[in-house]
Amino acid sequence: MSVSIEKIDEILHSYPAVPHYSLAIMQDLQHEFQYIPREGLEALARYLDMPLSSLYSMATFYKALSLKPKGRHIIRLCDGTACHIRGSMTLVEGVTRILGISDGETTQDGLFSLELVNCLGSCALAPVMVVDDTYYGKMTIEKLPKVLNTYREEG
Ligand code: FES
Repeated sequence: MSVSIEKIDEILHSYPAVPHYSLAIMQDLQHEFQYIPREGLEALARYLDMPLSSLYSMATFYKALSLKPKGRHIIRLCDGTACHIRGSMTLVEGVTRILGISDGETTQDGLFSLELVNCLGSCALAPVMVVDDTYYGKMTIEKLPKVLNTYREEG
């Protein structure tokens, strides 16, 4: 999604210009653009009269926030204990081999991002992979190409 300055302004002005709201505003920016664009962070610093460096630290501290554009589809691979024991790292290697991305990276075509996460709360289905909001339990390296292709075809 392209970055609209009007949209950034609209998000900023839906909150009072008080530093207390910095995190909430960043979450809204993240939600709107799937990441926090640099223009958004700079506008926020001006709006709240806060140093850009504090906002930058906050944005890098919270895993839910990202300063880099993310792919259209977010692949979350669980590497919690149950999933790790049942081979989650093989799936990570599989995604890296098929898509050429590691944890925190996005494919060049902007279609996929990969995130390693801790327990997704479905340990009985370990190893678990989630693409956007769809859960794939008891995931195997054999099923991986087919699942990824579904999203490729969708675009
Ligand atoms: S450890 Fe993966 S879902 Fe719980």
